[in-house]
Amino acid sequence: MTGFFTKRTHFCGDFSKEQLGHTVTANGWVSANRDLGGIVFVEIRDRTGIIQLVADPSKNPQAHAALSGLKSEDVVSVTGPISLRPEETVNVKLSTGDIEIYPELVEVLNRSKTPPFPIDDEADNVDEFLRLKYRYLDLRRPRLARNLLLRHQILQSVRSYLNDRRFLEVETPILIKTTPEGARDYLVPSRVHAGKCFALPQSPQIFKQLLMVGGIERYYQVARCFRDEDLRADRQPEFTQLDIEMSFIEQEDVLNLMEGLLVNMFAVANITIQAPFQRITWKEAMDQYGSDKPDLRFGLEFTDLTDVFAASEFGAFRKPVDEGGVVKALCVKGAASYSRKELDDLQVEAKRFGAKGLAYVVFAEEGPKSPILKYLSDAEQKAIAERTGAQTGDVVFFMADQFIPACTVLGRFRLHFAEKHNLIDPNHHAILWVTDFPMFERTETGGLSANHHPFTSPHPEDVALLDSAPEKARSLGYDVAYNGTEIGGGSIRIHQADLQAKIFTLLGLSDEEAQEKFGFLLDAFQFGTPPHGGIALGIDRIVALLSGSDSIRDVIAFPKTNNAVCPMTEAPAEVADEQLRELHMKWDIKKPEPKKPEASKQA
Ligand code: AMO
Ligand code: AMP
Repeated sequence: MTGFFTKRTHFCGDFSKEQLGHTVTANGWVSANRDLGGIVFVEIRDRTGIIQLVADPSKNPQAHAALSGLKSEDVVSVTGPISLRPEETVNVKLSTGDIEIYPELVEVLNRSKTPPFPIDDEADNVDEFLRLKYRYLDLRRPRLARNLLLRHQILQSVRSYLNDRRFLEVETPILIKTTPEGARDYLVPSRVHAGKCFALPQSPQIFKQLLMVGGIERYYQVARCFRDEDLRADRQPEFTQLDIEMSFIEQEDVLNLMEGLLVNMFAVANITIQAPFQRITWKEAMDQYGSDKPDLRFGLEFTDLTDVFAASEFGAFRKPVDEGGVVKALCVKGAASYSRKELDDLQVEAKRFGAKGLAYVVFAEEGPKSPILKYLSDAEQKAIAERTGAQTGDVVFFMADQFIPACTVLGRFRLHFAEKHNLIDPNHHAILWVTDFPMFERTETGGLSANHHPFTSPHPEDVALLDSAPEKARSLGYDVAYNGTEIGGGSIRIHQADLQAKIFTLLGLSDEEAQEKFGFLLDAFQFGTPPHGGIALGIDRIVALLSGSDSIRDVIAFPKTNNAVCPMTEAPAEVADEQLRELHMKWDIKKPEPKKPEASKQA
């Protein structure tokens, strides 16, 4: 049992009645110390749990004196026999709540200052900055320790699943030339090569593809990725992907392999999901739910009413249709009880999201009511009720605009209504594939940008569209979404040099630029590159969701704040001038203008 570890016989949480009467040794941190009528009860905690120590001054004055002197977070080693607790003192909340140790030896290994916050679940309410400043204390809390344990177990299940299928774990470099994934790069200036920088990988994308050219065939890596982008609860500047790539496969193979892997990952957290997962195309996801990562724990599907308003007298609906847009409707059961103010607030919210408005029809007892009713013909009113299935008590909301903005904004309201009406069943686990993403998005300046990344293969049926209408071309890109969060994404890749060069051109790169940035990849594609594809899962996001954590920061040992700083080490930090000189660098920071003295003071 003890093996190499001679300084303890068991972890605190592993003690049980099996050791009754045995003399054991436990190590841990003092989490509570109570003196009840002279008898001292001390709880000590390690990563696995808590065990109670008891000392009676009449039986063992030395142990009693030692335990009495212990303060919170002192770190100790104790040795003594395990006993049953008296019936009335059993603590059913603790796995070790029916036993206790009577120490004969108490060794204080180190003392602790009073911690800045309690080391228990109550500290969830403590300011997060303070918790991150003392992250090493935060990590002693059972919830954080459980999260790191779950993360470890999930990664073990992943490794064993992929090892069984002959995948190789390969490390790719961190100091690289940029790998674009749509964010800004973190740059590392080179000392040896003045004026040049390495980039930190936004993902190992290009290297894993080059491993396929290199004949590795099945690769995975628990890979750290770096992206300088606006942060949110589910984003960190450095985060971990389970990165996977394989050769001689097609999309179906990747999805099937990943379903087995995800079923195992979820099982580690005692969550059962069934393979095969639901699959919908990006077009269907947007059309019906207004999101490329739809939350399918509830319905609230959109109804398309574009044809109904194609010749409408109501300009706000007809005009977008004239211009190739859509009219989408969302029927919300029971929303007729909303006050006028609630309906007005929704309008304001819609405008904040960039919508032109959020028209609505209330299906009241006395018939339909709406500020726009006067513009709607009887036939239109009838079609609204029939198509959406609206009944007395419901409200139908409308969004008229181009396809993407109309669907996306109504999609946000879909989530809002689901929460407001408690439609989300917390015991429902909705995982699905979204496939057939568009190849490109239009940029603000009218150019094209890659929807996934520039290495994604076009859908074989849409290759001709690359020349005629590239924004209509679908790709072989897919995402996996769980309860409305994107937990992974990947694609079948381009493996032909000429097609890859063509995509770079469509993305606005000149031949020289393409050569300068990605020449090595285009070269590699000339040497017998096999068809290949893969995916990356967001490990932090998955562990956060499976552990029920609100933020991915709670499943990362040393995360950064939302402001991309580390409160503990105070990184990023200033550097010495000498270091800058070595890197051939000089700051160009505009100092704020000194304030002009006020007129009165001048006088
Ligand atoms: P993608 O950019 O979709 O794909 O990333 C894959 C997954 O990584 C997670 N993720 C993040 N998690 C935390 N913080 C972030 N800032 C962050 N950004 C992304 C998400 C996402 O689904 N090379 C491709 C994969 C491929 O094509 O194989 C890639 O990086 O869960
Ligand atoms: P208006 O004619 O601009 O006063 O708009 C009448 C109603 O239609 C208001 O409730 C607006 O919020 C709504 N509305 C206007 N434009 C749109 C649109 N494009 N999609 C949905 N509702 C709209």
